[in-house]
Amino acid sequence: MRFDVFTLFPEIFESPLQVSILKRAQEMGRLEVVLHNIRDYATDKHHVTDDTPYGGGGGMVMKPEPIFAAVESVLGEALGEVPVILLTPQGRLFTQDVARELARHERIALICGRYEGVDERVRQHLATDEISIGDYVLTGGELPALVIIDAVTRLLPGVLGDPGALIEDSHTWGLLEYPHYTRPAVFRGWAVPEVLRSGHHAEIARWRRQQALRRTWERRPDLLAKAALSEEDRAFLQTLGWNAGDELVNEWENE
Ligand code: ADE
Repeated sequence: MRFDVFTLFPEIFESPLQVSILKRAQEMGRLEVVLHNIRDYATDKHHVTDDTPYGGGGGMVMKPEPIFAAVESVLGEALGEVPVILLTPQGRLFTQDVARELARHERIALICGRYEGVDERVRQHLATDEISIGDYVLTGGELPALVIIDAVTRLLPGVLGDPGALIEDSHTWGLLEYPHYTRPAVFRGWAVPEVLRSGHHAEIARWRRQQALRRTWERRPDLLAKAALSEEDRAFLQTLGWNAGDELVNEWENE
């Protein structure tokens, strides 16, 4: 999978791409990240990439010409086939489902905005999608681009040493993950739950499922509305005080 990243600060990407799984994915040939400095596509003498906003007000706006020039020249013939994603707090929310959707593409272009924003014509006539990584405002789209590259790369076949890790992930089944323990069996008097040391696989699987359900109910009850729940799951959740449909009621109340 290839990411073309358009940014004014390519150096932000250097160290995250040089360690651990992202590094290995590149060495394996599963991941290619090509950084393009938008400034290189500004044609004026000083390579200006921003300007004051029409209508006044504070801050600067990223000019459209260098961004269009960069994306058009890099994508060339592929323009129209490759998703061109603008990172913006106004975009659709990035979730594990969106990561899975993006992982199906061979190539993706990411445009990192800076300053107060990007000229609206980039959004209207160049970007094919807009993504936000959460309801908060960062100084630019570079960290969101890295978040997306990271979340998508670990879904690519062969990238994780243990593919089972993907199946058990928080959010894969719409639930938070169960707790993990490793040696020692007792640390500072805190013991690992007995069931995990029992070697009884069916019991362990049941305990983990119940822990995942309990955690999700306690921390993110909103997720239960969309999770795939069995009859047994529902019965267990009801012992905790959950009623199907509760989340919807809460959502309405919050509006
Ligand atoms: N740029 C600034 N904040 C952002 C966010 N939350 N998501 C994506 N891009 C951003």
